[in-house]
Amino acid sequence: MPRTPEQAYSELLRRMKERTLLASCAGLLGWDERTYMPRQGANLRAEQAALLARMVHEMLTAPAIGLLLEEVENSRLVEDPQSDAAVNVREIRRQYDRAVKLPRTLVEELARASTLGQQAWQEARSRSDFASFAPHLRKLVQLKREEAQAVGFKGAAYDALLDDYEPGETTASLRWLFAELRAELVPLVEQAAEGKVRACSNILRREYDADRQQIVCQAVAAAIGFDFDAGRLDVTTHPFCSGLGPGDVRLTTRYNPVQFSEGFFGTLHEVGHGLYEQGLPAEHYGTPLGEACSLGIHESQSRMWENLVGRSAPFWRHWFPRLRQVFWEPLRDVKLDDWLLAVNEVKRSFIRIEADETTYNLHIILRFELEQALIHGDLSADEVPAAWNEGFKKTLGLTPPDDAHGCLQDIHWSAGLFGYFPTYTLGNLYAAQFMEQARQDLGDLDAAFERGDFLTLKSWLNDKIHRHGKRYLAPELCQRVTGKPLSPQPLLRHLRNKVARLS
Ligand code: CO
Repeated sequence: MPRTPEQAYSELLRRMKERTLLASCAGLLGWDERTYMPRQGANLRAEQAALLARMVHEMLTAPAIGLLLEEVENSRLVEDPQSDAAVNVREIRRQYDRAVKLPRTLVEELARASTLGQQAWQEARSRSDFASFAPHLRKLVQLKREEAQAVGFKGAAYDALLDDYEPGETTASLRWLFAELRAELVPLVEQAAEGKVRACSNILRREYDADRQQIVCQAVAAAIGFDFDAGRLDVTTHPFCSGLGPGDVRLTTRYNPVQFSEGFFGTLHEVGHGLYEQGLPAEHYGTPLGEACSLGIHESQSRMWENLVGRSAPFWRHWFPRLRQVFWEPLRDVKLDDWLLAVNEVKRSFIRIEADETTYNLHIILRFELEQALIHGDLSADEVPAAWNEGFKKTLGLTPPDDAHGCLQDIHWSAGLFGYFPTYTLGNLYAAQFMEQARQDLGDLDAAFERGDFLTLKSWLNDKIHRHGKRYLAPELCQRVTGKPLSPQPLLRHLRNKVARLS
């Protein structure tokens, strides 16, 4: 007897859940690799990871998945595009098509090129020697162009790469958004740089005992709603958030004993990601409805807590007196106003990950322009340093002293990650637009922050964003939450207000 569509659908979900479980084992090994694994465990871990990655890939690309998808797609189960089945099938189809369209040889070549690329990049960056990295970049660009051709696209080839991180987003719409953002940011940064902002950031570079920083960070994480019975916060070199599944979300951070903000805002950032992971619907674990919407939406959650809440005056009106009790020595001569200036400094700099909230998006826009040109064949790998320096001068008014402080600073391209950078700026844009809406929906949020109530905002995010998983594509989610399509204006309003307050 042939199976019913219901049976096909539950078999499809069973297979996807098994795949997610296996991937979560790989995730746990990855977390261990970056926290507690002894150094000599690296080779064994690489073999474990490669085996699991292959099995996870095979579970998605099994011919049975294609057959099951077809059976469900041709049934009344998906008649209502908003139904759970329709959403899950839409998203599994997207992943499946992408995975099976890529020839095995291309997948293997990309894996090899990105491993070699990252090694070469590390070496090249330490010596600021772009020439030694150029052949790797050339190869990676060529393979990513092949990937775009294999996956297919309607508009620009770059769309096919973007789609992997930000489904539903297009190059054309990003160009429009980013052009508007850039046109207003460039003069705003100039104004801030020329403004008579008192230099207070040296307050942040005093001695802040790392153990005490950890106590502060844990207290703040708990106060904004991170559940330590369903997650951990550990120490590592490169902070990250790894959502293994319901009840187990791993965050990592690092504490610099002579610089306060790195550890503090880095932790707030990861906690924002962690709240999203903890807020995903457990009953849909293993299916797209139980997964985060997109990288841009994920980043909006981290940026909201890091920047829009964590650098605001009401937040510090609550926390600064408490911070001063823990760090009496470095803070005894510091007033709240000086502290606010210090954590909100606007300063043009070369390195993206050190950039402040106002200049940050200009770093991303430059990368977005260059990687489009690379993928569309308008720029060759060898021309990258010159194009970078010229673009940097135009957007940020500075000329990098060398390529290590310029086009060699990020790992992304060496790892084959093209189309990833824009999700950082999308995160900032979504965060600001969601925040304006939260303020409308929730009344006086500033008063809430000032009395230490952060759970009102956290519950709003749970309800409006987290619990929907992948039900809506990011642009649609934005429309539903805020009643409008994504616009650069909320972020620009926030930054203009901030610069006006600082000047
Ligand atoms: Co992030």
